[in-house]
Amino acid sequence: MTPAGYRIRRGALADSEAIAQVHVQAWNESYRGILADSILDQYQLPQRLVSRRRVMEAQQSQCFVAEHGNAGIIGFADCGAAREPIRGCAGEVWAVYIVKAHQKVGLGRALMAECAEALAAQGMASLMVWVVEGNTAARAFYERLGGELAESGRDSHGNQSVRKFAYCWPDLSTLRAR
Ligand SMILES: CC(C)(COP(=O)(O)OP(=O)(O)OC[C@H]1O[C@@H](n2cnc3c(N)ncnc32)[C@H](O)[C@@H]1OP(=O)(O)O)[C@@H](O)C(=O)NCCC(=O)NCCS
Repeated sequence: MTPAGYRIRRGALADSEAIAQVHVQAWNESYRGILADSILDQYQLPQRLVSRRRVMEAQQSQCFVAEHGNAGIIGFADCGAAREPIRGCAGEVWAVYIVKAHQKVGLGRALMAECAEALAAQGMASLMVWVVEGNTAARAFYERLGGELAESGRDSHGNQSVRKFAYCWPDLSTLRAR
């Protein structure tokens, strides 16, 4: 259920700049102390905007945005087919980011539910996410939503290698809102 005062809708190409802004802000708020400052300092709007427009134009994923009154877009999620399916999980939430001021009001749960609905509509029955090891807040969130720790791997950000974990929902209907 979408929390009162918020709206969740599909993201469009015209939302690219607002989504990219949320992405940069949420990275800075969430990954300081997890990723090197030099990596975060390079994570800026111009590059994010280019890659966001590419994502929206490619239409290989579905995007949902969360809006709040005059603040506009303050969160988003991308989902689609799993890039490297773990334990047979067909769908993947590629990204879910909410700026700090609007966290913990139920938007993350609502965005995950929208993704689960969208993936189910495409015939997928399960979903997974990847999360960086040090992102304990997001791991607690996925665990609270019933995600099962399924796999570990490594990601490279610049010259920093970080451990990451996959969480799976073998039955994504547990995440669906309706
Ligand atoms: C992680 C994130 C998506 C969660 O969204 P959110 O809107 O803050 O979470 P919600 O309010 O929907 O919480 C849903 C449930 O998870 C729990 N939860 C959320 N964050 C938690 C935390 N840090 N620790 C423990 N539980 C947490 C909530 O208490 C809630 O449980 P309840 O429904 O039983 O009350 C959001 O905080 C965020 O964008 N963080 C920064 C970016 C990020 O790390 N994204 C994930 C990248 S893999």
